[in-house]
Amino acid sequence: MGPKDKVKIGNKPMRVLVTGGMGFIGSHFVRHLIQSFPDLTAINLDKLTYAGNPANLEDLKDEPRHVFVKGDILDTTLLAGLFHEHHIDAVVHLAAESHVDRSILAPKEFIDTNVSGTLNLLSVALKSWESRGLMESARFVHVSTDEVYGSLGFNDPPAGEDARFTPNSPYAASKAAGDHLARSFHRTYGLPVVITNSTNNYGPFQFPEKLIPLTITRIMEGKAVPIYGRGRNVRDWLYVEDHCRALALVLFVGRPGDRYNVSARCELTNLELVEEIASLMDARTNPARASRELITFVEDRPGHDLRYGLDSLKIARELGWRPQVDITEGLSVTIDWYLENRAWIEGILSGDYLTFFEKWYGKRL
Ligand code: NAD
Ligand code: TYD
Repeated sequence: MGPKDKVKIGNKPMRVLVTGGMGFIGSHFVRHLIQSFPDLTAINLDKLTYAGNPANLEDLKDEPRHVFVKGDILDTTLLAGLFHEHHIDAVVHLAAESHVDRSILAPKEFIDTNVSGTLNLLSVALKSWESRGLMESARFVHVSTDEVYGSLGFNDPPAGEDARFTPNSPYAASKAAGDHLARSFHRTYGLPVVITNSTNNYGPFQFPEKLIPLTITRIMEGKAVPIYGRGRNVRDWLYVEDHCRALALVLFVGRPGDRYNVSARCELTNLELVEEIASLMDARTNPARASRELITFVEDRPGHDLRYGLDSLKIARELGWRPQVDITEGLSVTIDWYLENRAWIEGILSGDYLTFFEKWYGKRL
């Protein structure tokens, strides 16, 4: 958060329900809210699935403006109680099953949380804000992904907010359904919903099943780094703190009923990205063999989208958002964080993670 942003969006005494606040982006976002907005309280509702980790917000455990509640967005009674007890006047909805490969192995949980859970949250917010007369002033930020737009060809322009939805994985389809529900609650009931669609995030505290932390942790262990196909698929990379600044802007000054894409316009092939990580790591750890030798091409992900890329001209033009962290700086900070936080990694590289790893990569590696 740069000081300029603070001036622009001010400091409102809000009571924000953040769902999924013990996950990767959610934990950065809660920290960002607490550090940047002194009159704001964050109620952090998280089920603590394999991806939710209280260690992500260890630094806020004694912070009175951060209230953690362990619970499921499918639990209507719990949600209604939270809105009532904490006088919730804003929601930033990040809770989700978020990993494409897991959605290929077991899609049902994705429908439960990303579709039914989103519907539940929208319904409880509507009831609470209608009865408390908050339908104008409250905000519901629904956090979504570029994957709802589907795959671009190599020569296509980046997708804008009006691009057609063509989700290709069960994860993307479940997020698209959640987006449609959120939009429909604005159109039908006037719920003050704002939707964001961002590109692939990276940074500290990301669960090592996603490409960047997977690559870093595998290189740290001297193990093969699996790349699907020939590594030609393209993703558009966004540093997580830049995303959090965008979410805060949308929360405070986004227009209800609107959708905002969030992208740093940083498209790389997976091979380019992994090679860059390998060389940044070698410069730090000086290993006997170049880490790029660990790259192993493996059987592709079924339905693997070729390319994602968003234009984010609207959020730049209307809300003044600009990314502040370029890829080399962002990767360097991220790599340093993983190298310095082995205990956090060891806490995760066990149990559920190993079961998933064996099931998914067992036949690939
Ligand atoms: P994550 O998997 O790291 O975290 C998700 C969190 O949600 C976890 O803490 C988990 O315990 C919690 N959760 C899951 N099901 C729940 C339920 N039923 N009730 C309450 N909590 C539940 O995910 P992330 O990468 O931080 O992504 C956060 C959001 O941002 C998701 O909605 C995702 O679709 C979206 N998004 C992510 C990216 C990305 O690159 N990571 C990009 C664009 C959008
Ligand atoms: P991922 O981090 O799973 O994000 P998403 O699929 O949501 O974009 O994957 C990013 C890219 O990296 C994607 O093109 C798939 C690829 N990938 C690999 O090549 N190998 C891997 O082991 C993983 C997890 C991803």
